[in-house]
Amino acid sequence: MINMNKVVQLEITASRRLRALFTSSFLLVGISFSTPGFANDYRLEPANVKGPDACGECHKETVKAWKQSHHSSTFKDMPRSDEARDIADKMGIKRIKSESDCLTCHFTLAIEEEVLTPISGISCESCHGAGKDWIDVHSDFGGKDVKAENEELAHKIKRYKDSQAAGMIRPSNLYDLAANCYGCHTVPNEKLVNVGGHTAGSKFELVRWSQGEVRHNLWYSEENTEADLNRKRAFYIIGKMLDLEYALRGVAQASTGGDYAIAMAKRAKRALAFLNKIDETVDDKQLTEIINIASTAKLKLNNKAPLLKVADTVATSAKQFAANYSVSDDTSALAGVDSLLPSADKFKGKVYQK
Ligand code: HEC
Ligand code: HEC
Ligand code: HEC
Ligand code: HEC
Repeated sequence: MINMNKVVQLEITASRRLRALFTSSFLLVGISFSTPGFANDYRLEPANVKGPDACGECHKETVKAWKQSHHSSTFKDMPRSDEARDIADKMGIKRIKSESDCLTCHFTLAIEEEVLTPISGISCESCHGAGKDWIDVHSDFGGKDVKAENEELAHKIKRYKDSQAAGMIRPSNLYDLAANCYGCHTVPNEKLVNVGGHTAGSKFELVRWSQGEVRHNLWYSEENTEADLNRKRAFYIIGKMLDLEYALRGVAQASTGGDYAIAMAKRAKRALAFLNKIDETVDDKQLTEIINIASTAKLKLNNKAPLLKVADTVATSAKQFAANYSVSDDTSALAGVDSLLPSADKFKGKVYQK
């Protein structure tokens, strides 16, 4: 379901023409907004979504790679599956593509011809940010006739900065980039899990899950090369920090004992255990901060405010950790984690090759 603050915000920012049609647009696709809640938010502002074809104008190979992933195929396949029908029936949902309880994680929504429309599965912008305000800045290399390879360094630095300020989530922003994954893959929706019987989150590990079918290192290397060791070390640890943060947020939302609360509490405990294991061989200030604060968390029902406070503290340290390791490429201080990194045969799904 949509967050009403966002609707109001949309109303204000939408053009006058759009605004006049807004109420009817939502009605046209039959979306209801009755139950506000943690997971019930579109994640991306539909009015700011450009869609994967807009990126594909320049990133053709990347779009091809994405089309072979479950993130793309879910658009067609999920609503047709028996498992989806079963979940939807238990939830009292008639049309999967019109109910925000499924839309938030499986689809990307945009405004097409003034109508709120699911346009694809989980797309470029689900991870890199809704593009409207940054796509032009991002792809202007110094005037109409200047190609990326001839861009002045000063221009590039400013372009990166401006794109990010306009909402682009660039690969160097490891925390925000990876936080997207956990926002969906922990499945923070109690009703969906307890009533719908939806899986209570994936056994998600960031290196394993980002280096298989999701991998699209196709611009700077044509061979879709694996992330290098520096990147993998940082990914692995940030992934565990985020897993803990999102699991704590998940437990905070739990209102009844059931599959959801149990799965979230287990997830939090497992993530903390991993961080403790990493801490045995990696000496890092933020890692220690996170372990210390999380060890005080009481994983129980009706403990929302204290748990959210711990999660916020974990987030602050995780962001700092991510910033430390995306500015400098030297991750030798993290080498202690190497024995935990998954080997290539463990990567999830088939790697795209041209
Ligand atoms: C008009 C062409 C064009 C369009 C449209 C375009 N890009 Fe790019 N993009 C480029 C070029 C050229 C580069 C490589 C130069 C560079 O480093 O930015 C690039 C680089 C990138 C990078 C890595 C560089 C960085 O900023 O860290 C990302 C991520 C990216 N694009 C995402 C997207 C997404 C997502 C979209 C759609 C919303 C998109 N691009 C649309 C041309 C484009
Ligand atoms: C909070 C995010 C979230 C919401 C909301 C959500 N899903 Fe999912 N769903 C996921 C994730 C993540 C997976 C992949 C799980 C995995 O890999 O273990 C998934 C997997 C599935 C699958 C199994 C894979 C497939 O496509 O066949 C089905 C079926 C499914 N979801 C149906 C639904 C339906 C129906 C709804 C709406 C009632 C819904 N989901 C809402 C996150 C979500
Ligand atoms: C599931 C999340 C996700 C989706 C969907 C996604 N990206 Fe990315 N993208 C990432 C991550 C994570 C990285 C960084 C990978 C790394 O550092 O190893 C990245 C890196 C990139 C890069 C820089 C790497 C390179 O060599 O090209 C570009 C360009 C890019 N993405 C464009 C796109 C475009 C265009 C789409 C849609 C067709 C897309 N991405 C869809 C998560 C995503
Ligand atoms: C907007 C929600 C969303 C985001 C963001 C997201 N995912 Fe997913 N992802 C899903 C859903 C839903 C599925 C299940 C699709 C299906 O099979 O129907 C899925 C499936 C996958 C799969 C295939 C799993 C399988 O069982 O084969 C991988 C791998 C994956 N995601 C990795 C990632 C990574 C890595 C990131 C972050 C860089 C990410 N995802 C971000 C929602 C999301």
